[in-house]
Amino acid sequence: MQKLSAAIEKRVEDLLSRMTLEEKVGQLVQVDLYKIPDFETAIKEGHVGSLLSSFDAQNNNRFQKAAVEGSRLGIPLLVGNDVIHGYRTVFPIPLALACTWNPDLVEKATRIAAEEAATVGTSWIYAPMVDISREPRWGRIAEGAGEDPFLGGRLAEAQVRGIQSAELTNGWQIVACPKHYVGYGAVEAGREYNTTDFSERTLRDLYLPPFKAAFDAGAGSVMSAFNEIGGIPATANAFTLQTVLRDEWGFDGVVVSDYTSVAELINHGFAANMKEAARLSILAGLDVDMMSNAYLDYLPELVNEGTVPIEAVDRAVRRVLQLKFRLGLFEKPYVDETLAPGIILKTESRDAARETAEKAAVLLKNEGGLLPLAPNQQKQKIALIGPLADNKEALLGTWAGQGQPEDVISILEGIQGVLGEKAELTCVPGCDIKGATAPDFGPALAAAQAADVVIVALGESADMSGEAHSRAIIGLPGHQQALLDALHATGKPLVGVLLCGRPLVIPRMAEQVGALLLAWHGGVEAGAAIANLLFGKSNPSGKLAVSFPWTEGQIPVYYSHKNTGRPIDQGVRQFDEEYKSFYLDVPNTPLFPFGFGLSYSQFDYSDLRVETPSVGVDGTLVASATLTNVGKVAGEETVQLYVRDLFGSVTRPVKELKGFQKVTLQPSESRTVRFEIPVSTLGFIGLDLKYTVEPGDFKVWIGPDSASGLEGSFRVV
Ligand code: BGC
Repeated sequence: MQKLSAAIEKRVEDLLSRMTLEEKVGQLVQVDLYKIPDFETAIKEGHVGSLLSSFDAQNNNRFQKAAVEGSRLGIPLLVGNDVIHGYRTVFPIPLALACTWNPDLVEKATRIAAEEAATVGTSWIYAPMVDISREPRWGRIAEGAGEDPFLGGRLAEAQVRGIQSAELTNGWQIVACPKHYVGYGAVEAGREYNTTDFSERTLRDLYLPPFKAAFDAGAGSVMSAFNEIGGIPATANAFTLQTVLRDEWGFDGVVVSDYTSVAELINHGFAANMKEAARLSILAGLDVDMMSNAYLDYLPELVNEGTVPIEAVDRAVRRVLQLKFRLGLFEKPYVDETLAPGIILKTESRDAARETAEKAAVLLKNEGGLLPLAPNQQKQKIALIGPLADNKEALLGTWAGQGQPEDVISILEGIQGVLGEKAELTCVPGCDIKGATAPDFGPALAAAQAADVVIVALGESADMSGEAHSRAIIGLPGHQQALLDALHATGKPLVGVLLCGRPLVIPRMAEQVGALLLAWHGGVEAGAAIANLLFGKSNPSGKLAVSFPWTEGQIPVYYSHKNTGRPIDQGVRQFDEEYKSFYLDVPNTPLFPFGFGLSYSQFDYSDLRVETPSVGVDGTLVASATLTNVGKVAGEETVQLYVRDLFGSVTRPVKELKGFQKVTLQPSESRTVRFEIPVSTLGFIGLDLKYTVEPGDFKVWIGPDSASGLEGSFRVV
């Protein structure tokens, strides 16, 4: 966020000098207004600095008035809300947005969400969620950008720009809050809130970069995570909160805890009681206590008895006041209550939601060009089968904010919209999403038998992913696979549409259907987007931001793994082939790799040219390839560049994404796609735990995904 002027800094110091200890502590307290009986009095007495989950403009203005006009010093409140993938205009879940590989589009979606959230006076948005995760059992993988820190970093920046757009409607400003700092995506066995443990190198190489990218883009706050890091809970972790965040990165924004994570230090076995939890957190550098009331109840006492220096409290309060000034809240504390109707669910916003849903969908299989279905063949009889065929709620996804099922276009409605009234379309659910009792597949089978082609919409409900919704077995839930088995036995051509909040284990489904479109949970326009894609009104362009495992037993399976001393496909043949790093029963590779996604166009890669076969550590790697659309329709390809640092003082992954570009080509059109990659971005956390770029030999690939592409080499000198 922007630097404060000297005059504002002076106002901050002046305010600070006039505050009582209790008023200072109040600035560090965040509460949910619905959980406190006499909230307005608490505000007037200066015991509340910010509100959580407050989605009503009138209420927010009322509470703001209590703070601004009713409290002794008139300090405005921050209103913090979770706006994760849209506000009322619900966009695809963040993991799906990541599959667009389109930072500009993601920025646009995020800005629309921020504009809608601003209509109720939201000044603090708890997003982007930038936790890298290779754990599809973890429900919160839905909320992030997937498995890769480079892609995750670009999308983190985009979302920060979207939320912190200089002026939202009517000049309102919002601060972004990247979360959850840090390492939450590593929860053991994918079980929510579980322990994490990783080396400092992995912390710095993998989990920190998207946070750094978010701060470099100006993010003005950050949320500490629920998990521990090497035995020290993130909420009271002086190494991550002070050493890395403040000392190394110079971050001067606000650190807020996660919901009751200060109190949870007791369950972690880190603090013996709430007073201790408050002391450990403030001393580690945590500014705002979300919902634990540990600061409210114990900070004054801790300061008075001398176990917490007043300077620690002052530092935190100063940051909160600075943020409130930065956001302009002292000048403009109230939101215009008449704004919402002109902003919420605007046509342009719905159009953007549809565009993102189309671009987030990933075509995983298309045997014999089964897709697109021809929209004009009115005689084609279509059966639309599956529990998600005419479902609206699921399409909203895990963190739908203020989204309403009635805003959603279901797949059935989307297809009706494309085919019009003359369509011969039958829709049968076949079974429930997760129902335990065996359904009667009779009606679904009858519909399939009578049809020329069957579209089968399967997957998860919205409440099967997201916070506190981990799953250990991540196949199709309930009786859906049995339904698909029965439909497969009819011999009819099957088009699968998969709707989910995480990568699912679906090798059987992928085998049985002729075409498979991964549509995730796509938001309010999901049904229209899916129909446009199925009938060729749009051309799929999404690429996976996360690998799809063959089986849960492979997890974690991700493209950027290490080679090991005994890789299966290469290396020194000094041992029997059987003593290699592999499974007896499944492949090492995922079912669908990171970066993968098909199109109705066919893209051919040729003529890799590494223009800088030898390049200095301060130089720029320049490499290009020719991309040709050899298909029959125009399409968009995401051209990806990966490198491998072959030998290092610390071992490096077999591939690392370092660049990507979106290219749109007409049929028969060719383009040279040229990458200029600063060599300074090809480094890693070295022996001394500092970032380093080592001279040596590299491989480079330019291609359509992480598992293929044209291969070349270069040397860093
Ligand atoms: C979640 C955060 C969220 C917070 C406030 C917590 O349970 O982990 O992501 O921002 O609640 O709603």
